Amino acid sequence: MILCFSGTGNSLFVAEKLSQALAQSSIISLNELIKLENYNPIQADDDRYIVFVLPAYSWRIPRIVEEYIVKTDFPEGLKAYFVMTCGSDIGNAQKYAESLCRKKKFIFGGCAEIKMPENYIAMFPVPSKPKSDLIVKEAMPQIVRTAEIIKAGKDLEQKAISLFDLLKSGIINEIFYRFCVKAKEFYVKDTCISCGLCAEVCPLNNVAISQNKPIWGDSCTHCMACICRCPKEAIEYGRITKKKRRYLFQKPADL
Ligand SMILES: Cc1cc2nc3c(=O)[nH]c(=O)nc-3n(C[C@H](O)[C@H](O)[C@H](O)COP(=O)(O)O)c2cc1C
Ligand code: SF4
Ligand code: SF4
Repeated sequence: MILCFSGTGNSLFVAEKLSQALAQSSIISLNELIKLENYNPIQADDDRYIVFVLPAYSWRIPRIVEEYIVKTDFPEGLKAYFVMTCGSDIGNAQKYAESLCRKKKFIFGGCAEIKMPENYIAMFPVPSKPKSDLIVKEAMPQIVRTAEIIKAGKDLEQKAISLFDLLKSGIINEIFYRFCVKAKEFYVKDTCISCGLCAEVCPLNNVAISQNKPIWGDSCTHCMACICRCPKEAIEYGRITKKKRRYLFQKPADL
């Protein structure tokens, strides 16, 4: 069973590739469950493992996904794998995923680090389409290797952790959530056509349509779905996103 959270499609693509390699293992959308506040117990299918596919947010699994996992009952004794997509690296995410597994009585199967195109347009530049295509193609062998390890029931190889990794996933993650993850910089331009997609795709129901325009509430996880999925590029985040390419996963034509 695969549980996937994805803001802009990278993790969903990886989940689909894993599903194909793992005999069509079913994919459950964490975006939908979180949006519906559905914390009903997850039933085991035939697999004895569960694979969480998600983006790295500040060098750990996204906090809202961690909260979902804590609140939800899972069958005991499952082996849990964490397949994390990222723009550069996942830091020491494995330490926190392992501790979550202890809490949930999962057997920790390890964290995989899959480098995909950067999507965090509220903070960084995102790669051009040709560069994104290259990054996705380069990720393919690792996606295949990860699927083989999971299929064989083995543990994913864990990376060596540097002092900087400890800091990034530790104190920097805390600071990031406290000071950076806010929706107040979002605003909408006149080019908005009131289609409502930004509200629809927000996994936290943090976007409402009022007088035909989106407004943002206080609970945001910076997944970048609203700003990157707007068909008119009518959403900005402060000044940093002006004239910047939006990122949404697109399969390279020759893949
Ligand atoms: C809020 C936020 C935090 C991020 N933090 C990291 C990070 O710590 N390390 C990293 O390499 N990439 C980071 N990224 C980039 C994403 O992890 C990466 O682009 C991912 O593949 C996006 O997946 P998605 O398209 O499934 O949402 C971050 C992106 C966002 C939006
Ligand atoms: S997705 Fe874009 S065009 Fe549609 S309502 Fe939201 S801001 Fe307006
Ligand atoms: S408001 Fe936008 S960035 Fe924030 S959680 Fe919702 S969709 Fe994601």
